Amino acid sequence: MWIADMDFCTPQFIIDALQDRLHHAVLGYSIPGEEWSKAIINWVNDRYNWKIENDWLGFIPGIVRGIAFVIKTFTNPNDKVMVMSPVYHPFFHVAEDNGRQPEYCPLIIKDEIYYIDFNLFEEKVKNCKVFILSNPHNPGGRVWTKEELQQMASICHKHNVIVISDEIHADLTLKPYRHYPFATVSKEAAECSITFMSPSKAFNTPGIISSYSIVPNDNLRATFNSYLTASELNQGNLFAYIVPVTAYSESGSDWLEQVCSYISDNIDFVDKYLTENLPIIKFIRPMASFLIFLDCRELNLSQPELENLFIEKAGLALNTGTMFGPEGKGFMRMNIATSRATIKEALDRIKAAIE
Ligand SMILES: Cc1ncc(COP(=O)(O)O)c(C=O)c1O
Repeated sequence: MWIADMDFCTPQFIIDALQDRLHHAVLGYSIPGEEWSKAIINWVNDRYNWKIENDWLGFIPGIVRGIAFVIKTFTNPNDKVMVMSPVYHPFFHVAEDNGRQPEYCPLIIKDEIYYIDFNLFEEKVKNCKVFILSNPHNPGGRVWTKEELQQMASICHKHNVIVISDEIHADLTLKPYRHYPFATVSKEAAECSITFMSPSKAFNTPGIISSYSIVPNDNLRATFNSYLTASELNQGNLFAYIVPVTAYSESGSDWLEQVCSYISDNIDFVDKYLTENLPIIKFIRPMASFLIFLDCRELNLSQPELENLFIEKAGLALNTGTMFGPEGKGFMRMNIATSRATIKEALDRIKAAIE
């Protein structure tokens, strides 16, 4: 129940398409082709009403790598890169490991929902070259509102900050919430941002690596693309292009609707279980995706004690909250993209361990 992939089988129509390709006797070089860009352009338009141009689109070999490439392209050693913690840990590790300084802008929790302190946001981001946004947010499962995104855009644009909008979890936005691609919320947002998307989380294909960038701003795109081209970093393997083409189809939409519905029911199940049996543990209800940030602060345990409780006593493999920054103290992250029986077993074990 830790790393963010699902226990659910990758949809059969994707497996079939990959297997079909293997029936061709030659596993040669490949290029994305028109059907790849068409599939993405249509998907993004149908789901998010975002009309993107073919030129804006480019293959990237993974989103974390994409983030590293942006950092290398647009910043210098010791430059600051802002993240809103607690947040998906590679955001700050990639900055640090590339000799840049992460600038942490902690989110605030109110009634188990994460919010942005915009005064702090501006104060911190104005000294940064890049801001990495998890849109929606991991581990808080927060779907940002259009107004919040507009406010981030206007501040970042004013201070010449490039926004990386990591939208890997977007297709798993749960009802009744709505995902807004960052670049769509204002002219400023389109001008200052680089968006990364991928079918990998929603269709459980992260091992294939089939992500892509969308960059409306000509200058940003030219600079980014020249970095990628110089090292042929924008070339995928032959399976990489098949996944979006197959996933972004009618079968894909149907499958995704069922997955989101099952995930929503799992979240309700956890909610009910905790309320009835373990009210000492609260949780941040995900508005998107399958990661639940369990708020265990009322247990009053140190982080090693909390880890010991969940990992050693309950025998569960969860992510410890502090992995996502110091603000994760008192939290554990649980992946609930699994069968309800497994979730029940996990919750029973947590209950027994606490008792
Ligand atoms: C917010 C976020 N971005 C990126 C990734 C990983 O993307 P990739 O495997 O394409 O590097 C994850 C995986 O959990 C994630 O949660």
